[in-house]
Amino acid sequence: MNKLSFSYQSILPFIKQEEIDNYHHLVQETHDKIHQKTGAGKDFLGWLEVMEENAPELEKIQSAANSIKHDSDVLLVIGIGGSYLGAKAALNMLQHTFTDMLSDEEKDTPHIIFAGQHMSSTYIQELLSIIKDKDVSINVISKSGTTTEPAIAFRIFRKFMEEKYGKKEAGKRIYVTTDKEKGALKQLADQEGYTSFVIPDDIGGRYSVLTPVGLLPMAAGGISLEQALSGARDAIHDLNEPDLFKNPAYQYAAARHRLYERGYTTEILANYEPKLSYFASWWIQLFGESEGKENKGIFPTTADFTTDLHSLGQYIQEGHRHLFETVLRVRSDEAKIYIEEEEDNLDNLNYLVGKSLHDINITASEATIQAHVDGGVPNMVIDIPALDAYNFGYMVHFFEKACAMSGYLLNVNPFDQPGVEAYKQKMFDMLGKPK
Ligand code: PA5
Repeated sequence: MNKLSFSYQSILPFIKQEEIDNYHHLVQETHDKIHQKTGAGKDFLGWLEVMEENAPELEKIQSAANSIKHDSDVLLVIGIGGSYLGAKAALNMLQHTFTDMLSDEEKDTPHIIFAGQHMSSTYIQELLSIIKDKDVSINVISKSGTTTEPAIAFRIFRKFMEEKYGKKEAGKRIYVTTDKEKGALKQLADQEGYTSFVIPDDIGGRYSVLTPVGLLPMAAGGISLEQALSGARDAIHDLNEPDLFKNPAYQYAAARHRLYERGYTTEILANYEPKLSYFASWWIQLFGESEGKENKGIFPTTADFTTDLHSLGQYIQEGHRHLFETVLRVRSDEAKIYIEEEEDNLDNLNYLVGKSLHDINITASEATIQAHVDGGVPNMVIDIPALDAYNFGYMVHFFEKACAMSGYLLNVNPFDQPGVEAYKQKMFDMLGKPK
């Protein structure tokens, strides 16, 4: 298997095959709505195409990443939501788990640290103190250019940079990713002459990881943009298929929609690989913001297995029955760790001798699926071939395409997020923001 595969076999004890098959025509119509750009949010479908590898913007991204690698110990990435989670997901999935502990000889990339994704003063204080003697670059990312959390973080770290380097040198180390013309950040970037990257008008925040939003931090982190975009390009090709029976992204969308209609209102994206933990956070935003509106929508949540089988596992097995799971697994095993025989067998593990840790993990996933299905939790499985940039790009498009379909099946606009404004308005009133 060299491409992502999807199976909904383990929901069939709960819903009939024909309930899925019944979506065939609706999915075909909805596919046309997506591709002919006639549905709600039709101006936000730019992610249906991939940035060309030879586009000047891509060369500019790579060149900025090379400068950052050359002159910085730390890249501070400032952003929130869709301007944060995609890059975080890619780095979590594709960099060495203990990248910050590798020696300079072992890596040629800066430490990548995120800020502006919350308003913890302790975090900012500790970050300021840890980077004070390091060489630092900043990539501040905000499509609107007005989001409070990253704006506050940028004000603080811009001052830090100007005090450390002087205004001119600081300016060379600040990279801005924002709208081509709107927003306070764009004005600031123009005024200060910061190197700037454009977030396309027709791509919303949570669909923007394969634009400069995610690509600059990824490139600075040593991830091959060529491979990531090639994975996305193949997914765009493979999933441009109106036939439900041939399109796994649409099967996933239809299956979860049917489950929702049958009262399964919470979806757990469960992974068996800690490197997919932030991918799952990215997925939460994608589906949560796209579908949770008009008092509708599946509540998306995640679990890291087998870790969380020892905490959430009890609830999943026997708690309130409103859950279904989508299990994300990795098929390849680069590590090849085998259980070796011990003569005294004091830990009673000799029955595992000769098995790889990876195979034991896969067996755990199969056993858990069976147990959870027996306990009344429908399961779907997505297997990815490997933890590499190609598969990252492929998965991103798979879920984006599924989310667009799923949102339209639910009859909501999958590309807006009006509800995010409510807390902001109250916060601005309480903080006395001028109207
Ligand atoms: O998906 C979205 O549009 C949002 O989650 C945004 O990404 C998030 O609110 C950050 O917005 P901005 O990039 O404008 O700072």
